[in-house]
Amino acid sequence: MQKSIGVFDSGVGGLSVLAHIHQHLSAESLIYVADTAYMPYGCKTAAEVTDRCLKISDFLVEKGAQAIVVACNTATAVAINLLRERYNIPVIGMEPPLKPAVIHSRTGVVGVLATSGTVSSERFNSLKSRFAADARLLVQPCPGLVERIEAGDLTGAETRAILTAYLKPLLEQGVDTLVLGCTHYPYVIPLIGEIAGDAVTILDTGDAIARELKRQLMLRGRLSQESQCGAVQFWSTGSPSEKLISRLWGQHVDVGQLDI
Ligand code: DGL
Repeated sequence: MQKSIGVFDSGVGGLSVLAHIHQHLSAESLIYVADTAYMPYGCKTAAEVTDRCLKISDFLVEKGAQAIVVACNTATAVAINLLRERYNIPVIGMEPPLKPAVIHSRTGVVGVLATSGTVSSERFNSLKSRFAADARLLVQPCPGLVERIEAGDLTGAETRAILTAYLKPLLEQGVDTLVLGCTHYPYVIPLIGEIAGDAVTILDTGDAIARELKRQLMLRGRLSQESQCGAVQFWSTGSPSEKLISRLWGQHVDVGQLDI
């Protein structure tokens, strides 16, 4: 069985992380699972999301994953500890970059955009008290935004209206740094930039996660020695998302149907 790295998300959001992984670790074979049939995770219970994480991770391990990247903040918030206990391979998760945001902010007012599931999790609240106690953190759950992105609407009027409604109160309170706490949101950075203006810095963790994955594989001597580019395989549990996945990935890809 070919060694690979498994990456998953509720849908297409994790592709924003996969792109950084592919860039930093181009020789590795990657397997991506979009759990489109069960998206969005952000409004599901912790038990429901955990159950999906276990099913997908079992599939990835069966496929030869030597590391798993939970390319979803919501899933990381509720299931990462359990996944780390269950599998004897590195399991890397997402975390909203609060610490760098607080260090970066000049006004001391930092906005966080994330799903309802993430912002209500214990993990997020502990992160907040560890790293953002001295800042004014304005936490904005964004119901509906993931669905717009899954619909492929990255610049349209409806997505703009949702984002404007979420961003306006933050901007009015002097936010100068915005944390993207959901892997779908990097796909609307241009729109966020238009609404928020150039003076606001937008922080996302995709690149940092790819570097951390590389570090962990290196530590274990598991980096691929191949000189050729590794294959990237795509799977989806939901209705055909080949068009959107291809669009976001930047080239046509085949997407397998996964019934789990
Ligand atoms: N992309 C996800 C995250 O980072 C999940 C969004 C959702 O399905 O609600 O939180």
